[in-house]
This record gives sequence, C-alpha cells and structure tokens, in this order.
Amino acid sequence: MDDIPGKITGNDCVTGAYRRLTVGLTRPLGRVSPGQFVMVKVPDRDIFLRRPFSIYDSRGRALTIMYRVVGRGTDALSAAVRGTPLMVLGPLGRGFTPGKGNTPIVVAGGIGYAGVRMLLKRLGDRATLFFGVTGKDELRLADDLKDTRVLASTMDGSSGFAGDVVSLLGRYLDDYRGKRPEVFACGPSGMVKSLKALLEPGRIPCQVSVEERMACGMGLCFGCVVATRDEANPYKRVCKEGPVFSLWDLSL
Ligand SMILES: Cc1cc2nc3c(=O)[nH]c(=O)nc-3n(C[C@H](O)[C@H](O)[C@H](O)COP(=O)(O)OP(=O)(O)OC[C@H]3O[C@@H](n4cnc5c(N)ncnc54)[C@H](O)[C@@H]3O)c2cc1C
Ligand code: FES
Repeated sequence: MDDIPGKITGNDCVTGAYRRLTVGLTRPLGRVSPGQFVMVKVPDRDIFLRRPFSIYDSRGRALTIMYRVVGRGTDALSAAVRGTPLMVLGPLGRGFTPGKGNTPIVVAGGIGYAGVRMLLKRLGDRATLFFGVTGKDELRLADDLKDTRVLASTMDGSSGFAGDVVSLLGRYLDDYRGKRPEVFACGPSGMVKSLKALLEPGRIPCQVSVEERMACGMGLCFGCVVATRDEANPYKRVCKEGPVFSLWDLSL
C-alpha cells in the first residue's frame, strides 16, 4: 500500500451519472486482489477527506475506477479534466477469495458492479453475473464483459427480469444444487439483506463487499466499523478487515 501521485488520462461518462476514470500513476499499484479499493484525493481544495473507490482495473501504472456522481466529492471528480493531478492511496483492504472447485455466482446492484468487475474478469466464463439496475441504460456498465454470462434485472422492467436482482437469483438457485455454489456480492444494503434472507436456508457461502463512509481508509480512525457476530471483538473496520466479509459473519 502506497500513496502514489498520478494524472488523469480519461474521465468519461458511461451512462447517466456513471463515469469511468483512468489515472496514469507514477508507479504501479502492485499486486491487487479483486475487491480491494483505493482512497482518492478528489481535486477540490475544500474537500479534505479522501473518497474510497473499488479498483475496477489495474494494469502496470494505469488504474481505472468506475464511479457514480452522488455528492460533492464525486461531482468534483466528474469535472476533472485530462492531465489533472490526483493522489491515490492503495491498494487497500481485503478482497474476494474464491474457493477452489466452487461454482461462482456474482451479484451486483448498480454501481456495485465496479466492486466485482475485477473478480469477474479473473473468473471468466466460470462465473454468472446477476446484475440488478434501475433501467436498461445502466446495463451499459457491464458492456465490457465478454466471457461472463449476464442475467439482468431492471426495476422499471425495461430489460430482462422485471424486479430486483435477488428475486431474479431466487429463480435460478435450484439450478446450482450439487454444484457447490459460492456467491460474491456488491450492492446497496437492502440488496445484501435480501440476499441473506434468500441464502439463509441453504447457508450458501457468500462473500459481500460492504460500503461504509470512510475517513482514513487505513484502519486508524475506526470511523468505518460494522457489527459482526464475533462475540469477543464484534466491531470490524471495513477498510482493514473488509471491505469483503463473509455474509454469515455480519450482524445484519
Ligand atoms: C470500499 C468502498 C468502495 C467503494 N467503491 C465505489 C466505486 O467503485 N464506485 C462508486 O461510485 N462508489 C464507491 N463507493 C462509494 C463512494 O465512496 C461514495 O459514493 C463517495 O465517497 C461519495 O462521495 P461524495 O463526496 O460524492 O458524496 P457525499 O457528498 O459524501 O455523500 C453523498 C451521498 O452518498 C452517501 N455516501 C457517501 N459515502 C458513502 C459510502 N462510502 N457508502 C455509502 N454511501 C455513501 C452519503 O450518505 C450521501 O447520501 C465505495 C465505498 C467504499 C466504502
Ligand atoms: S476509515 Fe479509518 S479506520 Fe476505516
């Protein structure tokens, strides 16, 4: 983990409020596990705290993140032009660890796709992505996936299954019986709670990337803790012990 200066080499709209940003770093991030993240100093002098973003892609000195404009920091990021200097701290946290011989099921909600995209690239055609979005335009976020089977759900019914992504997965779960399914998920907290209810009867192994507001991103401030079932030490830091946790360890 290192604080690395870089310059923006691309910052393009994918669809609506979703953008993909590429940074040319002065040195490589090094070894990255899918699900790890970086803390980005957004280019605005009045914004002191860095913002966490999943590593969407990392090749040599080129780092890519995908983000959704939701507030001051991401708004400032969206206005940054090519050549703007950017400080990037990472790679941070613990990522996904797929078990050998399991059948991977990946579940993403909206911008949660950014958190599982590296994992999908590593798993290739072994994985199926269940991708839940609001409307069909958002399905463009996953346009770059070539090898992965994608099953989509839209809340407005404009494409694929009409409804939420966990209900979609529920329709396919029986197909995985006897195939040692293992679920990897990233998305809003409501999606994670529904996923838990769906998977609970079979206690299917599931790793989930948790989102919490962060200040330091390095395990120092304890501003990002989540409650777990560990009786001796229930509060875990999302930035250090996570962001990826076993769903069955979390107190939801
Ligand atoms: C490990 C991790 C990885 C992430 N990866 C991505 C990613 O790849 N792409 C992406 O678009 N976003 C990602 N996020 C969320 C992202 O960090 C926030 O959207 C961003 O910090 C918002 O900054 P802002 O200044 O624009 O919004 P603010 O003005 O700070 O807040 C705007 C709104 O967003 C909510 N919000 C802010 N931060 C978070 C957060 N960390 N989790 C949940 N809600 C938040 C606030 O409650 C508020 O409603 C990730 C978060 C974590 C913890
Ligand atoms: S953000 Fe400071 S400990 Fe996690």
